[in-house]
Amino acid sequence: SLHVPSVLELAKEKIDAAPSRYIRSDQVPVLSSANPAIVVPVIDLQLLFDGDLLETELNKLHQACKEWGFFQAATEEKKKFGQLEGDVEGYGQAFVVSEEQKLDWADMFYMVTLPTHLRKPHLLPQLPLSFRNAIEAYSMELKSLAMKTFKLMAKALKMNPEEMEMLFEEGMQSMRMNYYPPYPEPDQVIGLTPHSDGGALTILLQLNEAEGLQVKKDGIWVPVKPLPSAFVINIGDVLEIVTNGIYPSIEHRGVVNSVKERMSLATFLSPNLHGEFGPAPSLLSSETPPKYKRIGTADFLKGLFAQKLDGKFYLQTLRI
Ligand code: SIN
Ligand code: FE2
Repeated sequence: SLHVPSVLELAKEKIDAAPSRYIRSDQVPVLSSANPAIVVPVIDLQLLFDGDLLETELNKLHQACKEWGFFQAATEEKKKFGQLEGDVEGYGQAFVVSEEQKLDWADMFYMVTLPTHLRKPHLLPQLPLSFRNAIEAYSMELKSLAMKTFKLMAKALKMNPEEMEMLFEEGMQSMRMNYYPPYPEPDQVIGLTPHSDGGALTILLQLNEAEGLQVKKDGIWVPVKPLPSAFVINIGDVLEIVTNGIYPSIEHRGVVNSVKERMSLATFLSPNLHGEFGPAPSLLSSETPPKYKRIGTADFLKGLFAQKLDGKFYLQTLRI
């Protein structure tokens, strides 16, 4: 009869092998997934739609249709937000300064979120509306969380709270979304090179359960287990300078997973871009002289992005 059994029922029975009607012998070999040389072609359709007809891209489309009958349309949304020449903002990698340096096993999307006039017109304002709304709401919440945290720190430090407010009330906020794909031998790569954060405060949201952030404590890497609905907050170089070394910025890194992808969103709070900063005057005395030079925020950030990540190297250049 043409009646066939339910496969769900068959699967439930603990049988050693499926009935012979299911066993195929005409199998085509499967390309080992370790062979990256053969891939279904990727075509940048948007380039072609946009008109300025690129012979080479059109030829790729032609060949793909002829030889494969299959192609993948490139994810143009992502490309639309790609980094522009000489700009760290957008989709790409940060801190790349030479052809020789080792790269991180990760992609990132970086953008300035506050103050609003510093937002690049082709980034945040162009994101899909619901995503943009979420980012804007999140940005405001995090600004408020950061200001409250700065105030608490000033209190704990017995520092003049106005000095803290002056630095950050009109401060700069930026966000970095990180995507770490899995890698079968995770020890061979690094997701994020060891570094200390350049800003004052970093508020990190780990977006899934995959572990990856490690903090250097007394010479060893300590993994930070992601807690659902908890932020990881850390001191950056600016705050080490402002507190004259009382609050150290700590080296950390990101490792990748063998099978799981990892995603995180880091929000960086920095001082007013048009101001300057240095050790807070209320923390200085003849017994506690300044350990760091004063520097303009814009110059500081320019210097930060002009180097590759290298532990706490950049901060050391500002020591007196
Ligand atoms: C991450 O944990 O994914 C990033 C942490 C950082 O920004 O350094
Ligand atoms: Fe960091």
